[in-house]
Amino acid sequence: MTVSRVAVLDADRFTGLVALGTRAPSLQNTQPWRFRRHGDAVDVLADLDRALPATDPSGWGLRIALGAAAYNVRLGYALLGWRAEAESFPEPDEDHLLVRVRPANERPPTPGERELAAAIPRRHTNRRPYLDTAVPTSALTALTRAAEDEAGRLTVLDPRAVGEAMALVREADEELDRRAGYAAEQRAWTRGGTSSEDGVREDRLAGRPHPDERLRRRDFGGGPARRYESDPCLAVLTTTGDSRYDEVRAGQALQHVLLRATASGLTASLYSQPIEVPSTRGRLGTLCGGGTPQMLLRVGYGLAHSPTARRPVPEVLVPDRDD
Ligand SMILES: Cc1cc2nc3c(=O)[nH]c(=O)nc-3n(C[C@H](O)[C@H](O)[C@H](O)COP(=O)(O)O)c2cc1C
Repeated sequence: MTVSRVAVLDADRFTGLVALGTRAPSLQNTQPWRFRRHGDAVDVLADLDRALPATDPSGWGLRIALGAAAYNVRLGYALLGWRAEAESFPEPDEDHLLVRVRPANERPPTPGERELAAAIPRRHTNRRPYLDTAVPTSALTALTRAAEDEAGRLTVLDPRAVGEAMALVREADEELDRRAGYAAEQRAWTRGGTSSEDGVREDRLAGRPHPDERLRRRDFGGGPARRYESDPCLAVLTTTGDSRYDEVRAGQALQHVLLRATASGLTASLYSQPIEVPSTRGRLGTLCGGGTPQMLLRVGYGLAHSPTARRPVPEVLVPDRDD
C-alpha cells in the first residue's frame, strides 16, 4: 500500500518524536537542541544559546547530543512503522541544522528496536557508586555491537588500560579547572533544589569527588562522596574520522550503546573530560588502539534513579518548514 507522504507525520506524531528526542543526554543537561517538522521529516537544530563555549569550544559535545537525539527520533519512527535515515548537515546554507531524520521505508519495528525504544524513558546518567559485580562478556559484546551498528567502535578497556584512562581523566579534569570560563559554566548549569527542567541537579551527583577517588568525576559541588567500585568497567567509543559528521554519527552510536545498556539492566555514566582536552584525547585514542575518541563510558550494575528532567516539548519547537 502506498501511504501519502504527508500522512506519516501529523502534529501528534511529530510531538511524540520530539518528546523522544529530548530524552537524549547532553553536556551539563543543557539540551542544546530545537526540532522542526519538515514535511515527513524531523529536523534537529542546534540551539547555540545553550552552547558551552569554555567547556566545549569546538561544539563536539553539542554534535554528540544532537546525534543522540536523532537516534531516539529514528527509534520513534520505527515504532510508527518506518525505518528512518538520519542525514547530517543536509542543507549547506543552514549551519545550525545538524540532522534531518526522515522515513525511508515502511516496515514493522524489529523486536530489538522495540526494546531500545522502551528503554528511552528509563535511561539516565548514574553517577553513583556501582556494585563490585563484573559485567559479563556477553553484555559487553552487545554494547560493542550496538556501537558497530552506527559505524562506531566501542573498546572495553583491560585493567591496565583502565588505570591509564583514569590517570587521563584526572589530568584532563585538572586542565579544565585551569581553563578560563570553565568553572563559571559548571556553576551556571548546576542546580540546587529538585524542580529544574535543565542543568545538572546537585542531588544527582552523589557528592563531590573524593581526593582519593580513582576515577575522577566532574566536580559540580555537593556533599561528601561515598566509596566507588574498586575496578570500574570502562569503555571508549571511537570513530574512524574526526569530522563533524563523525561526531553526529558518534552521538547516535553513544545513544544506541546507552539504550542497549539500559535494556540489558546495566547503568552508565560518562566521563568526557579527556575528550575535551586535546592532549589527553590523543592519548586516550592510543590507549584504545586508534581512532578518534568520542566518549569514555563507565558501565555496571547499580541502583537506578528516576529519569533526569527535561524542558517541555513546546519550548524546543521551531515553526514547520514546508518545501
Ligand atoms: C557529550 C556529553 C558529555 C558528557 N560528559 C559528562 C561528564 O563528563 N560527566 C558527567 O557526569 N556527565 C556527563 N554527561 C552526561 C550529562 O551530564 C547528562 O546526559 C545530562 O545531565 C542529562 O542527564 P541524563 O543523561 O540522566 O538524561 C555528558 C553527556 C554528553 C552528551
